[in-house]
Amino acid sequence: MSPKLCIELLDPEQYVTALEPVAFGRDSYTHLALINFEGKTRRWYVKFITDRNDSDGSLPVRGLINEIVGYTLAHHAGLPQSQSALIRVTHSVLRSMHKDLGTALVSGDNACFASLEAHDPSKRNTGMVKLLYRNSADIQKKLLGWTDLPAVMAFDTWVANVDRNTGNLIQVRPGQFAVIDHGRILTGPHWEAADLKSDDDYANRLMDILFDPTKLPLPVKSAILHSARRFLEVYKRAEPELAFWFGSDPDKLEAGNFLQKRGHSAIPLLTNLVGLIA
Ligand SMILES: Nc1ncnc2c1ncn2[C@@H]1O[C@H](COP(=O)(O)OP(=O)(O)OP(=O)(O)O)[C@@H](O)[C@H]1O
Ligand SMILES: [Mg+2]
Repeated sequence: MSPKLCIELLDPEQYVTALEPVAFGRDSYTHLALINFEGKTRRWYVKFITDRNDSDGSLPVRGLINEIVGYTLAHHAGLPQSQSALIRVTHSVLRSMHKDLGTALVSGDNACFASLEAHDPSKRNTGMVKLLYRNSADIQKKLLGWTDLPAVMAFDTWVANVDRNTGNLIQVRPGQFAVIDHGRILTGPHWEAADLKSDDDYANRLMDILFDPTKLPLPVKSAILHSARRFLEVYKRAEPELAFWFGSDPDKLEAGNFLQKRGHSAIPLLTNLVGLIA
């Protein structure tokens, strides 16, 4: 019997219509669409992630499993995020939204990761600017007032999310944000199981770039460590769902082991980062 999943599995018939392209990167293409879910037709961000490398097709791209694992763990960690779902979208709809989507990357129906619009649809552009440099006093102030900031910082170190730039925090209401985009957990979408080292200090953008972690207010530092002490418990809660998604794929099972071990090793890593003594 399959476990109850926090990610909904939608029927293609629930896809109502494509609205507009939103973003594209090296491996992923996002568009806005109307989707019917629980009797309501609403705006969802639908992200198609290629599973092959564009140039030679031999390297697996693991963005979709990263989204699934990241969302599932974040859900069980209680981080604020929008309802997400998997839905199959036809290649012709995807190509109508993304003219530059190479035919080699997409065929038939494609499983896409869909995320319900986090901000009020009547307000445009409530996503934060993609901030990649240190010391923006304005954004620091906004985020320091957000009660979930320490948990998100800790979480990113746990799951080795190397891309939590501020563009992946969506303002839901003043002072409240939702996390999106787990595509770069496990060190990025091109991870190889053998390269994942649970003790390594991978980049944590919110801590390395936006803030100097040693200068965070003491209550924030304590809350980061408090949150880290719950990782193993969170992993345990997520485990039946992760087992469903991993199946018997040896690389994915190895990634699961990495996350479980790191649920432990993230505590000294974070203690060190914020400059406290364990
Ligand atoms: N649930 C959501 N609510 C509001 N906006 C969203 C949501 N999901 C995605 N977006 C918007 O779509 C953009 C692209 O989504 P996402 O970050 O997952 O993909 P990406 O390919 O990594 O793009 P980027 O390189 O811009 O980060 C986001 O930057 C954000 O503006
Ligand atoms: Mg993003």
